[in-house]
Amino acid sequence: MNANLALLPGDGIGPEVLEAAAAVLRAVAERFGHTLEMRTWPIGATALRSGQPALPPATREACLSADAVLLGAVGDPEFDDVPRAQRPEAGLLELRKALQTYANLRPAKVWPGLEGASPLKPERLAGTDLLIVRELTGGLYFGEPRGVSPDRDSAVNTLPYSRVEIERIADVGFKAAQGRRRRLTSVDKANVLETSELWRSIVIERAARYPDVELDHMYVDACAMSLALEPHRFDVVVTQNLFGDILSDEAGAIVGSLGLLPSASLGDGPGLFEPVHGSAPTLAGRNLANPVGAIASAAMLLRHGLGAEAEASAVEQAIEQALADGCRTVDLASDDATALGCAGMAQAIVDRLARSTP
Ligand code: IPM
Ligand code: MN
Repeated sequence: MNANLALLPGDGIGPEVLEAAAAVLRAVAERFGHTLEMRTWPIGATALRSGQPALPPATREACLSADAVLLGAVGDPEFDDVPRAQRPEAGLLELRKALQTYANLRPAKVWPGLEGASPLKPERLAGTDLLIVRELTGGLYFGEPRGVSPDRDSAVNTLPYSRVEIERIADVGFKAAQGRRRRLTSVDKANVLETSELWRSIVIERAARYPDVELDHMYVDACAMSLALEPHRFDVVVTQNLFGDILSDEAGAIVGSLGLLPSASLGDGPGLFEPVHGSAPTLAGRNLANPVGAIASAAMLLRHGLGAEAEASAVEQAIEQALADGCRTVDLASDDATALGCAGMAQAIVDRLARSTP
């Protein structure tokens, strides 16, 4: 296989975790005899600081023509007070829109050995293995009209969803459930929001095509509670952009650390793969970040972006083995003194990947 990957380290801990993921991809290429061409491009605050827009045109073009895109994180508190369009996050949102990656898959499970890292009691946590399917290119994130009034006396955002947008994300949810435990929970706020009323009725219509999937519906507030009380009850959760953003951070906390969660953003063109965590400015540059979310995102890139299932599983097994062997970054360690840094954790995973039998 010969693949061309665009790497977007971004801001904060982004460059560290992306270097970790790139090291794992180099090890995969070596072991499986692939050529992975990886070129790095600026995005976010890193681009803004060099006088470019948050998504420079060259980065955009490189992503559109790549086989897949791997991103670290964007966001920098230095830009908190600048107009929204000139913030680092605008670059990521523009990229998601440009790539039309409307389906964001965010799996969260308890890795064997990490049960103790969760704030939940073991009996509540046992069996937790869920997938959040987050709609990524619509809803409140992109709805118009939006803005703060010139006198700063009021502000508005808009929550639109069209039939087509709901149908296609529902299909992703149903199909994902078919490949798992065949349960789909659609999360909305249909008791209050018209958008959710439409969402729910279209998901119900769509269910007729998937008779083998058991569908249920939850209001987002009840879902947030249920995730903390009985996370094992969930298989696939499908929901709108903002609810998926919020619930996926909660899922990260439940399985022990947001630093563990990977994601795949898929559309019809190249996929965008990124850890769920943010740029974590307070950890940046200190070799403290957990690279597992980024490395597991590289595994999702291999699987969903390049169709390389054996390679993806090999990476996931190497992560599992490293964790089972007791390798921990500070976010997971019970004892900071024995914790590995970001690079050390990556090396532990690379070592296990190289040792495993093809
Ligand atoms: C995420 C992030 C982004 C989002 C930010 C950085 C724009 O929180 O990927 O979950 O809100 O989608
Ligand atoms: Mn988020």
